Amino acid sequence: MRIILYTGKGGVGKTTISAATAVRCAELGHNTIVMSTDPAHSLADSLDCKVGGRPKKIAENLSAEEIDVNEELKRNWGRIQKYVTKFLKSRGFEELIAEEFAVFPGMEELFSLLKLKDYYEKQAYDVAIIDCAPTASTVRMLSMPDVIRWYMDRFFDIERRIVKTVRPIAERITKVPFPTDDVYDSVEDLFHKVEGMKEILTNPANASIRLVFYPEKMVIKESQRAYSYLNLFGFTVDAVVANRIYPEEIDDAYFDRWRAVQSKYLAEARTIFDPLPMFVGKLFDREMVGLKLLHSLAANIFGDTDPATVFYKEPPIKTKRSDGRHTMSIHLPGTHKKDLNVWVAGEELIIEVGNYRRNILLPRSLAKTDIVEAKFEGDTLNITFGK
Ligand SMILES: Nc1ncnc2c1ncn2[C@@H]1O[C@H](COP(=O)(O)OP(=O)(O)OP(=O)(O)O)[C@@H](O)[C@H]1O
Ligand SMILES: [Mg+2]
Repeated sequence: MRIILYTGKGGVGKTTISAATAVRCAELGHNTIVMSTDPAHSLADSLDCKVGGRPKKIAENLSAEEIDVNEELKRNWGRIQKYVTKFLKSRGFEELIAEEFAVFPGMEELFSLLKLKDYYEKQAYDVAIIDCAPTASTVRMLSMPDVIRWYMDRFFDIERRIVKTVRPIAERITKVPFPTDDVYDSVEDLFHKVEGMKEILTNPANASIRLVFYPEKMVIKESQRAYSYLNLFGFTVDAVVANRIYPEEIDDAYFDRWRAVQSKYLAEARTIFDPLPMFVGKLFDREMVGLKLLHSLAANIFGDTDPATVFYKEPPIKTKRSDGRHTMSIHLPGTHKKDLNVWVAGEELIIEVGNYRRNILLPRSLAKTDIVEAKFEGDTLNITFGK
């Protein structure tokens, strides 16, 4: 199953382009689903038909689904949330605050993606297109598997389940509630699901992210940052889409300056996103709503190209070995040295880029080594390990 996630700054056309891509894929004969993980769903408005929390067939080869994020949160995190709330209450938190703290921002959307894993395992569709929330939420959602791993490792210490006989005594002494077996089961189950999902989404052979933007300064800058963060977390962006380009037929002088702005930033975008293919969609003279107009938009953006194609397959993080030393390279375009921090703690390599931090569990061969050098070359961070 081919998986394509669309993200970008608020309002750039993510939903419209996700829907248009899905319409085109279905026309080409791929059994397609378009689903939205943005809690502020607008897929139904874009497709101009009713869509709900279950896949609904809306045309030949085309289904749509607006995932009920709260339902997914309850299903996957409910039991754990109850325990964490109880734990926090025992540490003096008020009930409502404890409940709030027991859910991290981004979790709802992450759990929505678990549905995707389900479809992937059943190979239920040929193509799945995901309309994601704006960039910051999407990056947070995609960084969640690492956060969850970290949290579960420390909070639940899965290896050292507290045996049934010790638990009641320990609870009496420490006055802290210990997780019961069903909580541990939920944690383990969720841990494997999230890891499995991350594996699917970081496999560039069939899963990719696409960034949608307008060629304007603020939008480009945000897209560039998102691109770096996605690379940091190991997700492959396979193409970008520049949307709402003023077409030639607008000959009103009022738009001359706008056109100059757009061509300047289109050129800049080509440099920033090189070597990714850049598709271009013109600004139509109306709202692009409904299957017919979505078809026209897809034709304008993709022409005869099948939008399900994997346009770029290079993983953003690579490791190589030479002279007995390992080097890890991460493509981080637009990142300044001052926004970057790299260090090793125990068995983890920790990389901070801007506000994001990634903890990478080092392979055993590297776990006992040190960073010999961390150097920015071009837009690539090269980290060399050795003794
Ligand atoms: N190329 C285009 N030409 C004309 N209208 C467009 C084009 N692309 C998108 N639109 C219109 O722009 C509006 C915003 O698009 P859309 O809802 O897809 O953006 P979004 O990025 O999903 O927004 P949000 O961040 O709120 O989810 C819609 O009314 C859509 O019909
Ligand atoms: Mg949207």
